[in-house]
Amino acid sequence: MDPAVIRVGLLGCGNVGGALVELVDEQRDAIADRTGMRLDVARVAVRNTAKQRAVALGPDVLTHDALAVVDDPSIDVVVELIGGIEPARELILTALANGKAVVTGNKELLANVGGELFEAAEKAGVDLLFEAAVAGGIPLIRPLRESLAGDRVQRILGIVNGTTNFILTRMTEEGSTFHEALAEAQELGYAERDPTADVEGFDAAAKAAIIATVAFGVRVVAGDVYNEGISGVTPADIAFARRLGYVVKLLVMAEADSRGVAVRVHPAMVPADHPLAAVRESFNAVFIEGAAVGDLMLYGRGAGGRPTASAVLGDVIDAAANRRRGTHAGLGMLGKARIRHIEELSSEYYIALEVVDRPGVLAAVAGVFGDNGVSIKQMEQEGIGKDARLILITHTAVERAMQATLADLRDLDVVDRVGSLLRVVGSG
Ligand SMILES: NC(=O)c1ccc[n+]([C@@H]2O[C@H](COP(=O)([O-])OP(=O)(O)OC[C@H]3O[C@@H](n4cnc5c(N)ncnc54)[C@H](OP(=O)(O)O)[C@@H]3O)[C@@H](O)[C@H]2O)c1
Repeated sequence: MDPAVIRVGLLGCGNVGGALVELVDEQRDAIADRTGMRLDVARVAVRNTAKQRAVALGPDVLTHDALAVVDDPSIDVVVELIGGIEPARELILTALANGKAVVTGNKELLANVGGELFEAAEKAGVDLLFEAAVAGGIPLIRPLRESLAGDRVQRILGIVNGTTNFILTRMTEEGSTFHEALAEAQELGYAERDPTADVEGFDAAAKAAIIATVAFGVRVVAGDVYNEGISGVTPADIAFARRLGYVVKLLVMAEADSRGVAVRVHPAMVPADHPLAAVRESFNAVFIEGAAVGDLMLYGRGAGGRPTASAVLGDVIDAAANRRRGTHAGLGMLGKARIRHIEELSSEYYIALEVVDRPGVLAAVAGVFGDNGVSIKQMEQEGIGKDARLILITHTAVERAMQATLADLRDLDVVDRVGSLLRVVGSG
């Protein structure tokens, strides 16, 4: 029997879209043998049709009119790889209303207006798949949605931003400063010229919102995610962390229990023997703690044209197969959870204080911790004279108490500067 032809309409042919066209060409026969479906990238919309592209596309395929692609009745599956909110949102809503399955890699869109899009897909009875939106090539959304559908995910820890992981790896292994490591990341093409979205944690926060939505079946948007970046992390923090048996990572942490859902992104000290501590360079990994399955870790390339295109293509095949079977894979009814504010969450903390070098400093500092009910687990004094510094690790404390402690420390005349505050990842 001849394979069924599935006509794909691609919106955007940049890094990921271009790699997708190549991958479909390479894999077309194998996919047809395996699935009985032959993929045809029938229309491709771009902003500038005159631009030189790595992939050859005929004039009957290439267009600057994205709306014509989502309105084309012969298209079965629309793949959105433009990025940003508009016009991606409008194009996806139109495609869904036209009864087409949609695949997207657009984390910004899903983390901000995902609810509206999932509802539209549900209403139209078609797929809206987005494996590539979080952790690029790593299969994460499908394992969460399908393989773990019968389990209860309790906590997810993730390294989902390759740029910051590269920077922190250089700072850890070569003693580079943040700015030196960032410059190297920019030279190698791992960081954008304006690195804000990556280094200040906004990219990871958008991904965290999507992860929490899928893992806990509740609606979480980017604005619900507490977010701190890595630009304040110093080589001294990293060296201390290492001496104490930790590695510093920019972590996504998503947790759910009877009190609600907590989703945060911040630099954290991860025990050196934790599997996430071994995730180096620009790699990503997501560590899942399930009630029945226990600990799982998914590891791989979180960005890049080909790895991301691999995830997109998996979704295209899934959407096409569902379409032929007359089914679709929705997220189900997304509940509304109470979002827990950072102030009520608990952690162990690492704090670095620049202090004056004179008797009585330790007692004054310890007194502030005691007054706020934060108990000190470990304390070290470093340097002398102008370089005197106190490094403290606390027992588990509530963020509100820790922030009050910091405010009081800033008022102490023996403290010159309150430096980094890093949260220490423990068992929960
Ligand atoms: N790059 C990655 O590693 C990666 C990883 C995971 C997820 N993603 C996501 O994948 C998506 C695409 O990323 P990318 O890196 O491939 O972006 P990109 O290289 O900037 O490509 C964007 C494409 O969209 C086209 N475009 C822009 N506005 C358009 C419009 N109004 N109508 C039609 N086409 C339009 C551009 O056309 P021209 O070519 O004519 O300029 C270009 O081909 C984003 O949502 C991104 O967050 C990317």
